Amino acid sequence: MAESEGTKSKNLKLIFAGVFCLIIIAISAGFYIYQSKNGKTDHNVLKGSVFSVINAMLTRFDYSNNTLYYNLNLNMSNSVYCDYINAGVSYQNTIFVHQNVDTSTMSSGLNLNFQGQHPVTLDKDQVTHFNKEHSSGVYHINVVLCLRFKQDNSNPMILTSHCDLQVPLQSSNGKNVFHATQCDTKSGADPNFCTN
Ligand SMILES: *[C@@H]1O[C@H](CO)[C@@H](O)[C@H](O)[C@H]1NC(C)=O
Ligand SMILES: *[C@@H]1O[C@H](CO)[C@@H](O)[C@H](O)[C@H]1NC(C)=O
Repeated sequence: MAESEGTKSKNLKLIFAGVFCLIIIAISAGFYIYQSKNGKTDHNVLKGSVFSVINAMLTRFDYSNNTLYYNLNLNMSNSVYCDYINAGVSYQNTIFVHQNVDTSTMSSGLNLNFQGQHPVTLDKDQVTHFNKEHSSGVYHINVVLCLRFKQDNSNPMILTSHCDLQVPLQSSNGKNVFHATQCDTKSGADPNFCTN
């Protein structure tokens, strides 16, 4: 009788200890989830126009021998800082350059320079479009920024900023001027431009 009473109270103690542990685990888990939610920057705050192209200088944009020759300089303003930016530039849906952007100067804006050549084969319609823009002296060029924030390494926040630009080729008469253009920022990586 005394033995079984002892066993009973031992069992009760074990049950209490088990319940106590479960409560502690539940509280810790809840606190952890709360913390990690609050530690993250709100994605919605960063959407919209957080980048603008203040000035653009296009000193070369030629298509010949199935090659695009380009020299484009952009000055941008930003209202957000991030750890990593990869920029892609496309013309008529063909990405002709991808490069990392120096983010160390972000507190005073960004300077992007794209210069080089890339093998491109434009079809008949695209050549017609190129020739039209060539005679007007203004080219429709898309610059896309893929942004990464390193605040959470296992789940880095990614945003994509699209800058839809009408860029005049720098010429001696200078009749066309570039108009400052706001970029459109969305959450997530644009699969066409942002590789990882
Ligand atoms: C951008 O800014 C730099 C430094 O102020 C300047 O040297 C460069 O010419 C500017 N580029 C454009 C396209 O305005
Ligand atoms: C055209 O480009 C090809 C390689 O893409 C090169 O081998 C060839 O020499 C070039 N032709 C001219 C006229 O530049």
